Amino acid sequence: MQKIILLLATIGLLTMSCQSEKKEKETIKIGTKKKEISSFDQGKNIFNGKGKCYTCHKIDRKSIGPGVDEIMKIYKEKDADLIAFLKQDAGPIVDPQTYVVMKTNFAIIKTFTDEELDALEVYMTEVIK
Ligand code: HEC
Repeated sequence: MQKIILLLATIGLLTMSCQSEKKEKETIKIGTKKKEISSFDQGKNIFNGKGKCYTCHKIDRKSIGPGVDEIMKIYKEKDADLIAFLKQDAGPIVDPQTYVVMKTNFAIIKTFTDEELDALEVYMTEVIK
């Protein structure tokens, strides 16, 4: 009888330690996954995902809005601040006539963190290279 209890206790302990090991591994995995994403990829995800920028901005040509290549060329030439524009601290310099269309997006853009805005800038700068 005692042997059986001992056996059960051992099995119990083994299962418990296995479970906690598994949990530990999962946390580590999530941790690295979060770190591995570069600013470029984060920006790309926002541009094509929740920011919906891609609906109006293609990379290399004009659609509803100017292409990212055109926007970034003008921003570079004028040494303008893209983040300031996205934070509505600076007005439009690319196509002020159609600014009303771009303006509708600030409701979403306002919800982005500084890190997300930086990532958008990194993506828009590097994707045209
Ligand atoms: C509904 C269509 C639409 C969507 C969606 C959209 N834009 Fe625009 N965007 C425009 C139009 C039209 C312009 C041209 C007007 C202007 O220059 O502001 C523009 C201009 C811009 C400019 C140049 C601003 C300047 O100085 O003139 C930037 C930068 C920009 N968009 C970034 C973004 C980003 C980032 C997103 C996603 C978070 C986005 N846009 C989503 C339509 C859109």
